[in-house]
Amino acid sequence: MATQDQEFPSTIIDILQSSQRVVILTGAGISAESGVPTFRQAQTGLWAQYEPTELATPAAFERDPGLVWEWYSWRRELISNTAPNPGHYALAEMESFYPDFTLITQNVDGFHQLAGSQKVVELHGNIFRNKCTGEGRHIQDLPQTDEEPPHCPNCGGLLRPDVVWFGESLPSNALDSAFKAVKFCQLFLSIGTSTIIEPAASLPFFALNNGATVIEINPQETPLTPLASYAVPQPAGDFLPKLVKAINS
Ligand code: APR
Repeated sequence: MATQDQEFPSTIIDILQSSQRVVILTGAGISAESGVPTFRQAQTGLWAQYEPTELATPAAFERDPGLVWEWYSWRRELISNTAPNPGHYALAEMESFYPDFTLITQNVDGFHQLAGSQKVVELHGNIFRNKCTGEGRHIQDLPQTDEEPPHCPNCGGLLRPDVVWFGESLPSNALDSAFKAVKFCQLFLSIGTSTIIEPAASLPFFALNNGATVIEINPQETPLTPLASYAVPQPAGDFLPKLVKAINS
């Protein structure tokens, strides 16, 4: 069922107020209003000629590690110059209403934590962390060097951002936590995600199969839209603060 309403159907409010176990799934759309381009948006400036999906792969890093590192440096700077928006803050506030609340994100920008969310499952890693391609260990402080990418101070392997690239497996502990939370949730909000990149794309359908109410918040249609319990075609930064206000009412 699609809802365009500014006010909320009372059934949604009832569900939001009576649920105990809530899962949120976010994608690039929630950070779009902060100014972080989504993966499917055209890039700007020097990077306009590249598709993100061609840079965020192990093959791209193998072919040209300097280029991929430079692209991530650019993305890091872009994210550092932006900030969480009212959508992120509304979700952080929502967490305090529910005894069992899990926020699963495909984003690597760390904005949910910055906005105050506590229980965040990062499915695709975090762009501000680095790991060694040789040993897989996390490297807290980057070595002082002009090399791009720098080499691991322990084993000499190349360093890379600790994000999940296309074709790579997701961190198994994050994936386990996500599926466990979804298995028992009563309410699932899918926010700002195209619902096409697996395995995250399966989560709302898993929730539906388990009897949860699934609400999608996305201005564009996705494969979830026709099946969601409610589909809200509005920007997350507009809608989520109103939703929190309505839950409080
Ligand atoms: N509010 C809500 N949704 C929005 C907004 C907004 N203001 N702006 C855009 N969207 C929606 C778009 O309509 C689109 O469906 O956000 C979605 C963004 O889609 P993608 O860029 O494909 O991002 P996402 O679904 O998070 O991608 C999943 O795939 O590209 C990889 O690893 C990358 O984590 C990413 C994953």
